[in-house]
Formats: sequence, C-alpha cells, structure tokens
Amino acid sequence: MASAYGSLLYEGKAKQVYETSHPDEYLVHFKNDATAFNAKKHAQFEGKGSLNCQISACIFRFLESKGVPTHYLDLNDDAWMLVQRVEVIPLEIVIRNVASGSLCKETPIKSGTTLLNPLLDLYYKDDDLGDPLLTDERIKLLGLVSSTTLSEIKTLALTVNSYLQEFFKKINLLLVDFKLEMGVTKNGQLVVADEISPDSCRIWDLNTYDQEDRILDKDRFRRDLGGVLEGYSEVLRRIKGFSS
Ligand code: TMP
Repeated sequence: MASAYGSLLYEGKAKQVYETSHPDEYLVHFKNDATAFNAKKHAQFEGKGSLNCQISACIFRFLESKGVPTHYLDLNDDAWMLVQRVEVIPLEIVIRNVASGSLCKETPIKSGTTLLNPLLDLYYKDDDLGDPLLTDERIKLLGLVSSTTLSEIKTLALTVNSYLQEFFKKINLLLVDFKLEMGVTKNGQLVVADEISPDSCRIWDLNTYDQEDRILDKDRFRRDLGGVLEGYSEVLRRIKGFSS
C-alpha cells in the first residue's frame, strides 16, 4: 500500500493521479492496464504497473543525475510515484533513432533502418482526435506553446535522447524510439513528466538477433507476441544491474 493519498484528480489509460496533503505534489499510480491503438485493444497484466513505475523511477533518477529536470520526487511504493505538480503540455514528443511503428506505416522507410539523425515528431495529445501528427505551424495556429518554449522542448527532448541512448547501450539495449511528455512547474521550469517505460519506448535486446524475440516493450502486446511481463522484467533487471 502507498502512503495516504487524497482525491483522484485524473485517470488515464495506464495511470491515475492523486492529490496529496502537499499542494505541489501528486501521487501517480501506475495501473496494470495495457492499451493500444487508442484503447481499441485493452488487457491487464498483473505487475505491469509496478514494473513501469520502477523502470520510470530509475530512468528519471538517471536523468536528474545528468542535470535533466523531471517531475520525479520519490518512489512511494512499487506502483506509486511521488511527483511535482506540473501543468502538462498537450504534446506527445516522439524521438526516433531507428525506424519502426508509425514511421514505417506512413513512409517507405523500412523497419530497422538506423536514422542518420534522431527524428523528432510532435503529436497533439488528444484522444478524441487520435493524437494527430503536428507541424510547427499547426502548433502555432493552435497556440499550444510559444515558439521559445517549442525550441526548449525540442532541445530538452534531444538531450534526453542522447543520455538515454547511452544509458541503454551500456546494458545492451537499443533505444529504437520513445515518447516524452513535458510540463511546466509553478516556478515556470520545463521538466520531463509522465513516464519513461516499456509502455512509452521501443527497446530491442542487442543480445538477441531474432527480430521478434529482441522486442522488450509494448510492441509485444500491440503485435500479440506474448511475453509482455517477461520483456518488461528483463528491462528492469538490466537497469537494476547497471544502477547497483
Ligand atoms: P509510433 O511508432 O506508434 O508513432 O510510436 C512511437 C513511440 O511512441 C513508441 O516508442 C511508442 C510511443 N507511443 C506512446 O508512448 N504512446 C502512444 O500513444 C503512441 C502512439 C506511441
């Protein structure tokens, strides 16, 4: 059980956010639900929430150690994370190092192609619209963020990518792509928020040659490959081995 928490403020597909007794701190509960294709596909995996919470905590701590600001404060319990209250920016910031997923559906680039430079794609965080791909001009038109904040978001996302690529490589994992969310604290600081876990990243095992066996992320669920928890557990096992 987590420590006492207040009322439920928000419930998403994979997480719940609770008030705490401190106005600037929230408790995030990582659920066992897995969804894909804008929740058209849904299942439960006992223990997934705890794995994602622990993996995210380790990654946030690593980023903080590199000077990257995040909303992370503490691991409250296995599936509960204490975070700073932030105003979440309604953008899904995706960085791709290797072509996979929607990039290969929407362009002729073959899955597994290493991209010369990381590709940064911004999506509008809006389930009703199906999280559409944005352009800088559309972001401006919608007034989602100022052009200064947009530049800061891009710079921070690329910095996170450099650190994470290096982090994963050391434990023989390839960071194919990942999604970040960012928020602004009450002091106006831009920070990495949400989670960084196998739900929000594509992670391939560099020790495994087989194109399906090497997948350790939510594609195991999206593509009905089985072994979802085994994949996530392997990611946590390697991260813990590296951190200890
Ligand atoms: P995509 O290839 O489907 O565009 O996904 C790119 C990355 O973003 C991949 O690592 C999975 C992650 N992602 C999310 O975390 N949430 C989402 O809703 C989607 C569509 C992708």
